[in-house]
Amino acid sequence: MHAITDSPEWKALQNHKAELERTPMRALFASDPKRAERMSRSVGPLFLDFSKNRITEETLHLLVKLAERAQLRQTRDQLFAGDKINLTEDRAVLHMALRNRSNRPMCVGGVDVMPQVNAVLTQMRAFVERLQSGAWRGHTNKPVTDIVNIGIGGSDLGPVMVTEALRPYWHPRLQPHFVSNVDGSHMAETLKRLDPETTLFIVASKTFTTQETLTNAHTARNFVVEKLGSEAAVAKHFVAVSTAEAEVKKFGINPANMFQFWDWVGGRYSLWSAIGLPIACMVGMDAFEELLGGAHAMDEHFRTAPFADNLPVLLGLLGVWYANFFDAASHAVLPYDQYLHRLPAYLQQADMESNGKSTRRHGERIGAYTTGPIIWGEPGTNGQHAFYQLIHQGTRLIPADFIVAAKPHHALKNHQRILLANFLAQTEALMLGKTQDEARAELEKQGIQGDRLTLLASHKTFPGNRPTNSIVLDELTPTSLGMLVSMYEHKIFVQGVLWDLNSYDQWGVELGKQLASKILPELQDANAPLAHDSSTNGLVQHLRARWS
Ligand code: F6P
Repeated sequence: MHAITDSPEWKALQNHKAELERTPMRALFASDPKRAERMSRSVGPLFLDFSKNRITEETLHLLVKLAERAQLRQTRDQLFAGDKINLTEDRAVLHMALRNRSNRPMCVGGVDVMPQVNAVLTQMRAFVERLQSGAWRGHTNKPVTDIVNIGIGGSDLGPVMVTEALRPYWHPRLQPHFVSNVDGSHMAETLKRLDPETTLFIVASKTFTTQETLTNAHTARNFVVEKLGSEAAVAKHFVAVSTAEAEVKKFGINPANMFQFWDWVGGRYSLWSAIGLPIACMVGMDAFEELLGGAHAMDEHFRTAPFADNLPVLLGLLGVWYANFFDAASHAVLPYDQYLHRLPAYLQQADMESNGKSTRRHGERIGAYTTGPIIWGEPGTNGQHAFYQLIHQGTRLIPADFIVAAKPHHALKNHQRILLANFLAQTEALMLGKTQDEARAELEKQGIQGDRLTLLASHKTFPGNRPTNSIVLDELTPTSLGMLVSMYEHKIFVQGVLWDLNSYDQWGVELGKQLASKILPELQDANAPLAHDSSTNGLVQHLRARWS
């Protein structure tokens, strides 16, 4: 099959880029007072201004044609139809069914999955209500005060990110904790602060075989049994979320305390399933369903809006534009909202585990183009005092998404004004830059002259023309958060289609896992023979000598 780079649409974009290079964004704004109006779109409480990008209407037109060439429309339809588009794992990709609030049938293998989805939501509601009301009691008859989610990757990052984002909605009696790392200090430090009598552990693992999660879960189990002096305590202090009932039983959790999901839900797309249980415990089931509702509204938008008005399509195409035509290696996610402080980490897995690949869907190696960018970021304004220097004046082009909520959850108006001013100033500065003449004029006003003037003017020049998207939520609510996350999920899908990837497997994680299981016995037995490369042999010996 031909690569997308051989298509006339790709060539047209290459030629167009060469032409566009002559016109900086500054000039595009100066020549068109309606640019921002024409390059903004709203979906409910979510507003996207993508006018500060190195594009014209023609660029958009050509990118949409590229999407058509890549059969985005057809693949999107296959996605929603429950076709097995995850070819290597032979699975459908239907996390949209988990938040399908319309309840219209959504099928996998000809079977409507909505009844199972709704049954688990009902089970979650009953559990969350008992937990929040205090009706769910621990082994010693005390209500729960602390919830510990034990999971990793998709069984951790989505729940942490959303729970943190929805902190204003937390139940006042409950405190969440998330243990993911197999590094014993993560569990040890968490257990130090917990009373086993009032702690509930949620063991979250799609496969229920993940080494880190099972190790942490066994440690937590020992803690409960030892402190409460009875195996019977496990039933009152442990629940499981998984697709693997047999494995859950093997661990010793009663299947009655298990919340199910299904193999058509990818780990990094699972926060909408029972994997979202810690979120629901903290914010209540109504708010959790509002989160689902927001995501569903974005699904409907993605499924039906024309490409030129479709937020995930636009963001996906802009990402391709920079990754492939401007060689941008990374993409920054910059939430101007402390509640969204885990969004960049969440999107790292969502995007990089999905599109960090170099094999096309039908097996050909990719040589002629780059795929998923490096995703990174931190909340503003902190990032401004850390890495923005490089975004403004470094030699690399770093497209960035700036995200803010207009209305805060606090009453500190002055803080919000300053936050918003910074949000606005950064995208303006990145677009405009500062010419050498402007820098000189400023310095002259300060009385600086001669060689010093020349030196400082060149250091104080900003190239500008650096692309940003501004994403504004009316307020950070379960609904708007659901929309935001679903928008990014679909953006990732769009890019996967353009790059001809299977965005839904993750074979790249396997090799490290395999080798770790080989090395583990060599750390248990100090005399076990070593047959690795000299570096690995040397490191094993070095560690053996220092740890036992
Ligand atoms: O990192 C690989 C991975 O399979 C992720 O895709 C997944 O989210 C994570 O491990 C955890 O897997 P599980 O939920 O099966 O424990």
